[in-house]
Amino acid sequence: MRERYENAMKSFNDIIPTRQQMIGKASAELDPYDPMRELAKILHPDKVYMVIDEITEETKDTKTFKFVPDKESGTEKLPYFRAGQYISIKAEVNGSKITRPYSLSSSPHDALKRGFYTITIRKKEGGFFTQYIWENWKVGTKVESSSPLGFFYYHPVRDAKNVIGLAGGSGITPMRSFARDIIEKDLDINFTLFYGIEREDEIIFKEELDSFEKQSNGKVKVVYVCNHPCEGWDGCTGYLSAELIKEQVDVEDRTFIICGPKGMYDYLDGELAKLNIPRRRIRKEAPGEANDITKYPDYPQDLKDEVFNIVVHIGTSNVTIPAKATDTILVSLEKAGIASPSECRSGECGFCRSKLIAGDVYIKKDVDGRRIADKMYGYIHPCSTYPTENLEIEIPLIQRD
Ligand code: FES
Repeated sequence: MRERYENAMKSFNDIIPTRQQMIGKASAELDPYDPMRELAKILHPDKVYMVIDEITEETKDTKTFKFVPDKESGTEKLPYFRAGQYISIKAEVNGSKITRPYSLSSSPHDALKRGFYTITIRKKEGGFFTQYIWENWKVGTKVESSSPLGFFYYHPVRDAKNVIGLAGGSGITPMRSFARDIIEKDLDINFTLFYGIEREDEIIFKEELDSFEKQSNGKVKVVYVCNHPCEGWDGCTGYLSAELIKEQVDVEDRTFIICGPKGMYDYLDGELAKLNIPRRRIRKEAPGEANDITKYPDYPQDLKDEVFNIVVHIGTSNVTIPAKATDTILVSLEKAGIASPSECRSGECGFCRSKLIAGDVYIKKDVDGRRIADKMYGYIHPCSTYPTENLEIEIPLIQRD
């Protein structure tokens, strides 16, 4: 064993001088004709330009938007993705440059073979961006987004062959994409999807979900769980409780994938603990921004009415902006019309990573996705960070058209 190790190390050491020579001779300039760079640009373009091709009313407050490439603006094909990923929509609303992540509800096959994406959006009561969408997005509207992003996808090395999906409300969207991926690629995965809704008329994609079991030869099953059922409801009732899940499926050696409102995540943490599901078997979609940060027990309540100042350094310029204690730093930047990089808005992706030069902040522990080194050297993710005093920060420069 030791001999094998020493031989391997020797071979490794032998190639170092050659590699050093090659690196020493190489140009410091990037090759503009490098085919790999061209391929990377096609697979993962920074910006995707799309146009709305169709709008479908799914329920009284939910619509599906179908996008095709906006060739006029430079997107020939929509990038491929993994079922479960999201795109980050970029828009300018009332002078604020904002981003919003939405899971793709269409399948990877739809992008590759049929040339479209869909996202399915539920209108939020008082929701600033969904209100904008309802008023402004029509067939023919041009929309800009990121490439598909995120880590909420199935991986055969990491995940079990038997998967249990727990979806609440519009959290059904990435699950639909995953179920369709199983069917369209005939993947060797068994997927039981629990879909929690408050009332029966909130079910999105009902007809299609009902057809999955037959289409997949039994590999995909959907269990509806309604909290306030009407008379005649013959599905399960109540919440996605440990008892209910265990009654319906074997939970041994399963991967659980979860997508839904933030409150559901907290509830399911407790329920899955009752079933002794190991953490490595639980995967959650990034929850997005907190609706009301003051509801979190460790939030410093005495600050909730405060407005602080943030000195923002961007490249060579500085600007001072007001920042409500209950707004994330990212939201304050957007309200001030500053185009700050962001994608997931959940503390997960690191796109908004910025340097905290001075001042103190509140970061909710369960969305603190910073690397250890970033925590040590004073970096923050403004999308999940709140000011608790006046701050000075440095944000990355981004190019916006
Ligand atoms: S936008 Fe993803 S970590 Fe902030």
